[in-house]
Amino acid sequence: MIPTPDLSHLTKEDFEHVYEPAEDTFLLLDALEVDAQDLKNIAPTICLEIGSGSGCVLSFIGGILGPSTLYLSTDINPHACRCTRSTGAQNKVSIDPINVGFASPLYNRLKHAVDLIVFNPPYVPTFEDEVRGAQDTRDIQGSWAGGLDGMGVTGVFLEHVEELLSLHARFYLVAVKDNNLPKIQQNMLKKHGLQSEVVLQRRAGREHLFVLRFVRNVM
Ligand SMILES: C[S@@+](CC[C@H](N)C(=O)[O-])C[C@H]1O[C@@H](n2cnc3c(N)ncnc32)[C@H](O)[C@@H]1O
Repeated sequence: MIPTPDLSHLTKEDFEHVYEPAEDTFLLLDALEVDAQDLKNIAPTICLEIGSGSGCVLSFIGGILGPSTLYLSTDINPHACRCTRSTGAQNKVSIDPINVGFASPLYNRLKHAVDLIVFNPPYVPTFEDEVRGAQDTRDIQGSWAGGLDGMGVTGVFLEHVEELLSLHARFYLVAVKDNNLPKIQQNMLKKHGLQSEVVLQRRAGREHLFVLRFVRNVM
């Protein structure tokens, strides 16, 4: 069993501004643990987390893959970037956080060079102006506000993720039933040649959570 990262250095005040790991985070950790041996076999050179929040997920991946992988993260929230770096340090994983939306500065520089991407996005359906406000404010609201079908933020990244993925790369995405998984899966296959399957799913209160794994369609 891979240990859950130590977050004891983060304070109540940190979690007023940064997403505290919850059921969605833990489902993603469980999915990565299911795939741990495959991930070790791929031996990623570059791993990127979009929306790293506390840094819990990337530190967990660091526990699977060890120090030969380069760990990059992005988050629109500057507090999250600070916490990601310190959580990495606390768990002996060297993480380089970038305070940007999505992976904007990396699309050209890391074209088809990233071997593992993970994204637990703000997936909660909200009013459209709420997602715009949250993206502008760059604070805790940006952790959940997802627009009408909860896809306002995820949808933007899905248009770009293929550009980053290397030949044998994997991309893990957290989603909820309201996001319309069949539609996501069909679009990604048709538009970007990425096939997907559900690695794990779990009910948590009113949410039905899923982790999707995308790989290139090699047909
Ligand atoms: C649900 S939280 C997940 C945090 C962490 N990865 C976890 O699993 O606990 C979503 C994260 O995405 C970040 N985020 C929201 N919009 C983003 C964007 N456009 N680009 C990068 N990060 C974003 C939020 O600030 C937040 O940290």
